[in-house]
Amino acid sequence: MTFDRSLKIAPSILSADFANFGQEIQAVEAQGADWVHVDVMDGHFVPNLTFGPPMCAAIRKHINTVMDVHLMIAPVDPYIDAFAEAGADVLTAHLEAGPHVHRTLQAIRGAGCKAGLALNPGTGIEDVDYLLDMVDLICVMTVNPGFGGQKFIHSQIDKVRRLREKIGDRPIHIEIDGGITPETAPLMVEAGADVLVAGSAVFKGGSVDDPGPYGENIRAIRAACGN
Ligand code: DX5
Ligand code: ZN
Repeated sequence: MTFDRSLKIAPSILSADFANFGQEIQAVEAQGADWVHVDVMDGHFVPNLTFGPPMCAAIRKHINTVMDVHLMIAPVDPYIDAFAEAGADVLTAHLEAGPHVHRTLQAIRGAGCKAGLALNPGTGIEDVDYLLDMVDLICVMTVNPGFGGQKFIHSQIDKVRRLREKIGDRPIHIEIDGGITPETAPLMVEAGADVLVAGSAVFKGGSVDDPGPYGENIRAIRAACGN
């Protein structure tokens, strides 16, 4: 994975057909996805459950782009090696998931993954000051994590703008997760984001038998951002 700030669309398979992840991933990649976003939920850190390392390992062989794993779990540390072995390229943990996020980020890089740090909508950016040299990606949640299809929280635009200033020239991606549509995407790109996660807005209207809408949806988001 080389670093650049070009716009990347990362469809979240939370909105895909759970019985058909392999084909869904091939379909969205063929339709122009840059990364594949994989949401891991534990029913404890967030009020929803998805899947763990075995599912990530099983879908890994269908991903030709970047496997972007978003851990909405607490604790994180006991599972880092398992997700790294499952093939995560980017492994993102939440700042709010425990008291030792510095150690968690060290362990993620130590396991050979790019380290991501996710911030809930209610979390400020002061706490990232001493973590900036340990992260490859900061994920700003624009919904409260747990479910797809929620409404975009506009207060996060200013947060992204201030985070972008703080990051300066450091090679750190700013990823936005939640409520991304052709209407909200350009607000975040203007504020400084380069990775846009989109679940419902990418998968709506299509299926593995009719994947054309996935491509139309991805292109609509890109076009809205002037790409
Ligand atoms: C929410 C997940 C998101 C979710 C986004 O907790 O982290 O990745 O899939 O879904 P949309 O794009 O529908 O808001
Ligand atoms: Zn996510």
